[in-house]
Amino acid sequence: QVMKIKVDLELCTGHARCNAVAPDVYPIDPNGYNAFRGQEVECPAGLEEQARQGAKSCPEQAITLSG
Ligand code: F3S
Repeated sequence: QVMKIKVDLELCTGHARCNAVAPDVYPIDPNGYNAFRGQEVECPAGLEEQARQGAKSCPEQAITLSG
């Protein structure tokens, strides 16, 4: 089963900790927010643990993982 990554549009305020911890999973958009903000995307295979660490690092808890 593919892990899904959801980044809450309202909660992400651009701390960019997710990208610092998990650069292969979370891109940052030109405004400094998580580029997945307001979307649900599939986690690339093999990067699930990195995705978890990045989600944990977000001070706003904007990132939800499922699956
Ligand atoms: Fe946003 Fe949290 Fe990353 S606020 S940019 S999802 S560390």
